[in-house]
Amino acid sequence: MKLWGGRFKGQLSKDMESFNNSINIDIRLLPYDIEASIAYAAGLMKAGVISQEEFNLMKKALEKIKNMEIKDIPDVEDVHTLVEKLLVEEIGDLGKKLHTGRSRNDQVATDERLYLRKEIEEIIELLENLIDTLNMLAKVNKNTIMPGYTHLQRAQPVTFSHHLLAYQEMFKRDTSRLKDLKKRVNVLVLGSGALAGTTYNIDRKYIASLLGFNDVSLNSMDAVSDRDFIIEFLSAASLIMMHLSRFSEEIVLWTTQEFNFIELSDEYSTGSSIMPQKKNPDAAELIRGKTGRIYGNLMSLLTVMKSLPLTYNKDMQEDKEPLFDSIDTLKICLKVFTGMIKSMHIKKEKMESAVKYGYLNATDLADYLVKKEIPFRSAHEIVGNIVSYAIEKNTTLEDLEIDEFRIFCNKIDEDVYEYLNIKNILKSRKTIGAAKWEDEK
Ligand code: ARG
Repeated sequence: MKLWGGRFKGQLSKDMESFNNSINIDIRLLPYDIEASIAYAAGLMKAGVISQEEFNLMKKALEKIKNMEIKDIPDVEDVHTLVEKLLVEEIGDLGKKLHTGRSRNDQVATDERLYLRKEIEEIIELLENLIDTLNMLAKVNKNTIMPGYTHLQRAQPVTFSHHLLAYQEMFKRDTSRLKDLKKRVNVLVLGSGALAGTTYNIDRKYIASLLGFNDVSLNSMDAVSDRDFIIEFLSAASLIMMHLSRFSEEIVLWTTQEFNFIELSDEYSTGSSIMPQKKNPDAAELIRGKTGRIYGNLMSLLTVMKSLPLTYNKDMQEDKEPLFDSIDTLKICLKVFTGMIKSMHIKKEKMESAVKYGYLNATDLADYLVKKEIPFRSAHEIVGNIVSYAIEKNTTLEDLEIDEFRIFCNKIDEDVYEYLNIKNILKSRKTIGAAKWEDEK
């Protein structure tokens, strides 16, 4: 069955037919196509196109189709064709009335909006789970001291909790981005027809209320032809994956013998087929790797949409694979990532001992000199010299004798050791958002 054909005399070539068909991909939209169809049928009834009795029959049949188990996907063009075909099989000619004033152009955009709206809700839930997990880990590590890095060089002492909560901030913004873009997804485009609206008196606001859409699109040509709501989602998905990927990279680093800050649970690591001793952070690596496809999906749809004249063009059928793939990938990545960090073993002592080497208290020594009324730039120079001296002596700043400090600056007193103490450093940070020591309550 085809939804068109009247004006054609010849047959579609076999290659063209399978090239044109999207059913294997868009079958995923089936429940949404039905939901939207029921609401549209109600709109047709309100407009006087079908009777109450006809509506009841249509609705019943559509609900039946929704619950059908479709084992072998029939060889039809797309999901909209399939629903109409099944409907006609159920209720005969009455089924052919459903498409009055409707086009697959407003239909497909409606289905996608319904689908994406639901998926966004699920993704927000997964993000909230991750945020809660980070909260829990941050609580138990609020005073676990670790090196903070810039250029991947040990820089200043921070707490592991502060490091974790940095990612939490990113995921909070990701969540708010999704909540915000959901508003633009949650708009009814049905009733726009092929591109110009319809002469039937379809109450679009009524259909919107039935489908739980908050707004009604105001320009039929825009409604059927833009996919910015999908691109916006793909872009938000890319940011989430970027955050997951950076975090994954750190997990990979931390599991190395070189860092040795954490050990992943057996549930989230795998072995080597040849090297019996290996325990690999595959989960983190896969998430890092899959970020590439999520970026690719964004690029893919941006490129599909570029240069398309108004309104609908068949190019836009290519919007679904990137969307579906990004949703599937993002969801599994969020689940696996959360499970992975929830079950990892944190080697607090290793993190803390890493702070001892690398002169992470050098900035604080400079700040100490500032307190002794030395301008910061000069203090920086003096401390640079002291660090260089300590490196040569193969020792730490806090292990230098007071007389050694005084070679470089005679304003340094015994109180310097307090200022070099890592815990005191964390305690003395003052600014909002700083990595601070939290007193036990
Ligand atoms: N399968 C099509 C798509 O996904 C549905 C819309 C078809 N519209 C049309 N005018 N041929 O884009």
